[in-house]
Amino acid sequence: MSERPAPPDGQPVLRLEAVRKTFGSTVVLRDVDLDVAPHTVTALIGASGSGKSTLLRCANLLEEIDDGAILLDGEDITDPRVNPDTVRRRIGVVFQAYNLFPHMTVLENITLAPRRVHRVPRAQAEERARELLERLGLGGRAGEYPDRLSGGQQQRVAIARALAVRPRLLLLDEITAALDPELVGEVLGVVRDLKDEGMTMVLATHEMGFARDVADQVCFLDGGVVLERGTPDEVFGAPREERTRRFLRRLTEAGRL
Ligand SMILES: Nc1ncnc2c1ncn2[C@@H]1O[C@H](COP(=O)(O)OP(=O)(O)O)[C@@H](O)[C@H]1O
Ligand SMILES: [Mg+2]
Repeated sequence: MSERPAPPDGQPVLRLEAVRKTFGSTVVLRDVDLDVAPHTVTALIGASGSGKSTLLRCANLLEEIDDGAILLDGEDITDPRVNPDTVRRRIGVVFQAYNLFPHMTVLENITLAPRRVHRVPRAQAEERARELLERLGLGGRAGEYPDRLSGGQQQRVAIARALAVRPRLLLLDEITAALDPELVGEVLGVVRDLKDEGMTMVLATHEMGFARDVADQVCFLDGGVVLERGTPDEVFGAPREERTRRFLRRLTEAGRL
């Protein structure tokens, strides 16, 4: 796999500039600005429907934006001349539903993109996959089919698959939302390890304790607007906006904070 040149110091890995996204007459993202510095974690929080998934999908060019720009390592990836496939190769994505291929083993799931898209030789792709499985606590599972694994294990395989192509950026959308409560910890532990290794990540999450613990930057989305942003201590500890306070209060009342 060819190494990409390191971007200039201080340049954000991901930048959103006044991003606007509509579905029909519904404005889902309005004037969203966001900077994600290298080796940092950004947590997107906010009620269901506030635009978190859409933001992540726009960043990965799964949705076309209506206005504004999205830059990856300084390059405007929303320029129509840019090939979306070359962009997606630099971004790893993990969704709530693991979306593993059921007819492929764990090893085949993880090596598919490196082999087919990045043309990595099989032996090299498998070596990398086994190394990732080991790191994610799944050593020995390479030959299993997804349905033999627990939800937490499947989600860790999905993370390994996203990491297999050595992405510049990892986007994680509610990756613990479909898991039984006792399996959430093992997946969040993996995210924490990735942060310690310096992976740049943007994650949408309802796990506020986790966001508070792992994020460098927290963005509260409300109706497609980043209403408030700051460090976890700022946003969780001393929210400035009434709507942020109300959101956090509701979570507290529901026993989720
Ligand atoms: N493909 C789509 N077509 C129409 N509306 C959509 C589509 N995807 C999302 N939306 C709408 O966009 C808004 C934001 O959704 P979403 O980004 O999924 O929010 P969140 O992830 O914060 O729950 C919601 O009102 C949702 O109904
Ligand atoms: Mg969502």
